[in-house]
Amino acid sequence: MAKYGPSLGQKHAHHAIHEGALTGAIQKTEDLLRYLKQGEAEAAKLTADDLIDYWETRIIAHADSEESGFYQEMVEQNPELKEAVIGLKRDHDILRMILQDIRVILKEEGITREVMMKFDSLITVNELHSREEERTLFVEKELFLK
Ligand SMILES: [Fe+2]
Ligand SMILES: [Fe+2]
Repeated sequence: MAKYGPSLGQKHAHHAIHEGALTGAIQKTEDLLRYLKQGEAEAAKLTADDLIDYWETRIIAHADSEESGFYQEMVEQNPELKEAVIGLKRDHDILRMILQDIRVILKEEGITREVMMKFDSLITVNELHSREEERTLFVEKELFLK
C-alpha cells in the first residue's frame, strides 16, 4: 500500500476529502463571524483558535500527505504532470503562508479585519487549488488512459 493512503489516488474519494474539509472550514468561519457580530469575544477567540487548528489538521495535513509520495507517484506515472505538480505545491505553500500570517496577527493584535480577510482567502485559495488538483491529476489522467 502506498504510504499516502489509498484514497488520495481515487478521484471520488479524493474529491470527497476536499469537499468535506472545505465545508467544515466555511462553517467554522461563519461561526466565527457570527460570534464577532454578536460581540461574544471569548467564543470568537476559541473559534478562531479552533479554526486555525482545523486548517492545520485537515487541510495542511492533507497537503503534507500529498507531498510525501502521492504527487511524486502521479509524476512517475505521467511525467507531463511535472509542471502542474510544481504549481500545486506552490498553492500548498501559499496556504501555509496565509495560515502563518493569521497566527502572527492573531497573537499580536487579536481578531482583526485582516485576520478575517485571510481566513476568507484560505477558503478561496483552497477551493481553487482543489479544483485544479482534481482537474489536472484526475481528468487528464482519464483522458490519458482512454
Ligand atoms: Fe493539494
Ligand atoms: Fe488533495
